[in-house]
Amino acid sequence: MKYCYKQGVPTLEEAMVILKEAERLNPGGWVKHSMYVAEGAKLIAEQTDNLDPELAYILGLLHDIGRREGIYGMRHGVDGYNYAIRNGYDLVARTCLSHIGFKYNNEVVIVGKWDGTDEEHSFVTEYLLGTDDTDYDKLIKLCDYLSLPSGFVLIEKRLVDIALRGGINEYTIPRWKSTFENKQYFEEKIGKSIYSLLPNVRENTFNI
Ligand SMILES: [Fe+2]
Repeated sequence: MKYCYKQGVPTLEEAMVILKEAERLNPGGWVKHSMYVAEGAKLIAEQTDNLDPELAYILGLLHDIGRREGIYGMRHGVDGYNYAIRNGYDLVARTCLSHIGFKYNNEVVIVGKWDGTDEEHSFVTEYLLGTDDTDYDKLIKLCDYLSLPSGFVLIEKRLVDIALRGGINEYTIPRWKSTFENKQYFEEKIGKSIYSLLPNVRENTFNI
């Protein structure tokens, strides 16, 4: 596949084709979720000086591309990384891993149940330990928490929903804090609430 002028990612058109192909392999709500992550990332990036909205959109579209391999838990991060590396999309590969973990007290916490191999787990934690989140990593992580398959919602609703379904552990509050730090980071950049940029948050959050 060709590179677009941006290194390390497919063109927008190619990214759409890649997502459609993945949907055929493993249909599910994750595809619409990915489209909202992309849209949210673009809308926020448009309001910043240093982020490219189209690049943000492409990374959002493909952050969960590992789900093409089937219905799995957190191993979708490694599956996505491997898929992206095979195709020469280094930046996509990075996002596939960065959105499944965060650093806390000098260790890497993977957010959710690990269902890959031990070797893959070591690979992810070492990779994330050795790298700091870029603004794109932060943006995609943030939008991941803002986007359901049905649209944008209040982050608090999504966090509670995840806790109710998956349970909580000692990393739950640090994870919530890191999400709110990301939110604040972008709100300081854009000078307003992120919710002012995202359509239908009220309707989706309160089922109005
Ligand atoms: Fe996601």
